[in-house]
Parts: sequence; C-alpha cells; structure tokens
Amino acid sequence: MKKYKIVLLSGDGIGPEISEVSKKILKKLAKNHNFEIEIIEKLFGGIAYEKYGNPAPDETLEQCKKSDAVLLACVGDIKYDSLERELRPESGLLKLRSALNLFANIRPVKIRKSLLDASSLKKEIVENVDLIVVRELIGGIYFGKPRGHITNTKIPKAFNTMVYDSAEIERITEIAIKIANQRNKKICSVDKSNVLEVSQLWRDTVLNITSKDKNISLSNMYVDNAAMQLVRDPSQFDVILTSNLFGDILSDLAAMLTGSIGMLPSASLNNNGPGVFEPVHGSAPDIAGKNIANPIAMLLSASMMLKIGLNEEEAAENLETAIDKVLSNGFRTADLADGSAEVLSCSEMGDKITDEI
Ligand code: IPM
Ligand code: MG
Repeated sequence: MKKYKIVLLSGDGIGPEISEVSKKILKKLAKNHNFEIEIIEKLFGGIAYEKYGNPAPDETLEQCKKSDAVLLACVGDIKYDSLERELRPESGLLKLRSALNLFANIRPVKIRKSLLDASSLKKEIVENVDLIVVRELIGGIYFGKPRGHITNTKIPKAFNTMVYDSAEIERITEIAIKIANQRNKKICSVDKSNVLEVSQLWRDTVLNITSKDKNISLSNMYVDNAAMQLVRDPSQFDVILTSNLFGDILSDLAAMLTGSIGMLPSASLNNNGPGVFEPVHGSAPDIAGKNIANPIAMLLSASMMLKIGLNEEEAAENLETAIDKVLSNGFRTADLADGSAEVLSCSEMGDKITDEI
C-alpha cells in the first residue's frame, strides 16, 4: 500500500477549525482509495511565535522538507502587527516558501455552477470563468534587496527593491507553459513594462521562452489593465503569468469572481521536493473560534495536494465531486449564504462533504 507523510500546519485564526475538517476527510479518502496517510502536525505562524518566539521554527521547516507534501491552513492576526517584521506570521510564511524553494504559485479560479449567484458580478460575466494565476513566489519586491528604513532624513523614508534576474523569470515561464499546454494554450503575461525596467526584462524573457513553444499563444497586459479586464470580461483569460506582487493582488481579485475567497485553493511548487498546498484566504481572526468558517478552500487545496503532490488523482476527484454535490444540494457556509440556502457551520459542512465521499 502506498504510504504518504504529510505535514499539516493549522496555523492561526480559523486555521485549526478548517484543518480539523481536512484531517477527517483525508483519513476517509485514504481508507476509500487504499493508501496510508500519516499526518504530522507542526506549529507555524503566530502560534509558533507564541511558543518558540519564531513563526517558522527550524524543526517545522525540517519536517516539511522531509515530507511528501505540506498542507497549510492560514497564518496571521492583527495582534502580531506590532512585532518586528521578521517575527510576524507573514514572514514565517515567506521563510517557508523560500526554504522549500517554492517559486511557482498556482491559483486556479473556476466558477462552480451552483455558486453562480454568489458572485458580486453578473452571472453572464462570470459563468465561463476558468483561469489559473501562475504567480512567481520567491522573488520580486517581496524578497528584493536592499530594503529598509532610512532614519537620518528629515522625514521618515522607507524603500523596497523590485528585482528579477532572467533565470527566475525563465523557470516560472516554463511552469506556465506546462500548465497552458494542458489547457487552452493561452498565456497572458502581466507586467508594468511601460514604467518599470524589471517588467521590461520580464516581458522580454517571457517572449523569448514562450516563442520556443509554437503551440503557445502569448499576450501581454499591463497590470492596471489586467485588473480592469478581470472584472470586465474574466473569461478571456486562460493562464495568467505574473510576478510576486502583481500575482498577490490579481489573485485576490480573481478569487472574488467565484463569490467567496473562501473557495480558492493554491499550490506552491518547485521542480522537485514537497509542495505547499494552502487556501488563498487568510486567517480571518474576526470569525475565528466561532465554527462558521468555510472549509472548502482548504479542502480544494487538499485536493490539489492529492492530485499534484501525491498523484492520487482518483481521491482528488472523489473529494471535488463530493464538494460539488453538497453545494448543489443547496448547503452553504455563512460566507456564501444567499438567504435561500441552508447555512451550515464549518464542522457541519465538513460532515456533509464527508458523507458524500
Ligand atoms: C498570499 C498572502 C501572502 C502573500 C501574505 C500572507 C504574506 O496574501 O498568499 O497571497 O502576500 O503572499
Ligand atoms: Mg495575498
């Protein structure tokens, strides 16, 4: 029997609640699909800071490196915002991404038919949306040096550096090409090359690499226009290839097309070694501990983990079908409630989905 070792980082806020649901469902899937899954839980984020004074303890990172895949819920809370930057949960997340060399962040945005009415946009605009944001994850302005504060000036000053070398752009472009080839073969590369040198290098490099694959049709868009187009006519996009900061912003925007950011999964990958699978949403401290969070983004992340990280395609499909079934039977969590549907708690939603597996 196949045996997998995964690390579960339940993190902060609603993390433990949605992780509980995911654990239960992964165990059932393992049983039904004849594999063993060992779930090793480790502290990460604010909770790890509380215990060890470090949001990404070495022991957690080492365990992640030794695993087959990492399933992460979410980290962060406003109470950590006054800490030194490197002690904040968000910095722990960046450290994890960088320690595992996760340069490719994949964020699929697909409308689930039963949730068409949950979108804040008109049904006709969103009904055919099926796109993937491919975001560079360990470079750009998030990691660029120099960065910091200048204190010897009259007024306070701070700065960051948006920097890429062509090798970093090449490897993320290769990933976008691979994904586009499994889909409609269309890549839209998003940059700000009308203003930024780093974006000009991005655009030139993407063109250079994609032109080697004759099947791929490449378009380019400035990031401001891309934000506008994502709201105007989102179904024009297939694969959106972009840098760390632009991908962060556009993926939240794209997530909302589906009606709730509580529905969006993501995978962070490199070319070999374990990936990290996590929902796009944050830790939602305002609703933490109330058992009202939507566990579906994390479940869809678990499904990406099964499919991409563990090669357990059937189990992944089983899970997605179960989620669709529960949604089309009219069950919703509070974030998706439209007045007519039955509103379930986080754990009840988990139980309903478990029953369909
Ligand atoms: C995301 C998040 C993170 C990011 C934060 C929490 C550091 O917004 O995964 O999109 O900016 O990458
Ligand atoms: Mg973000």
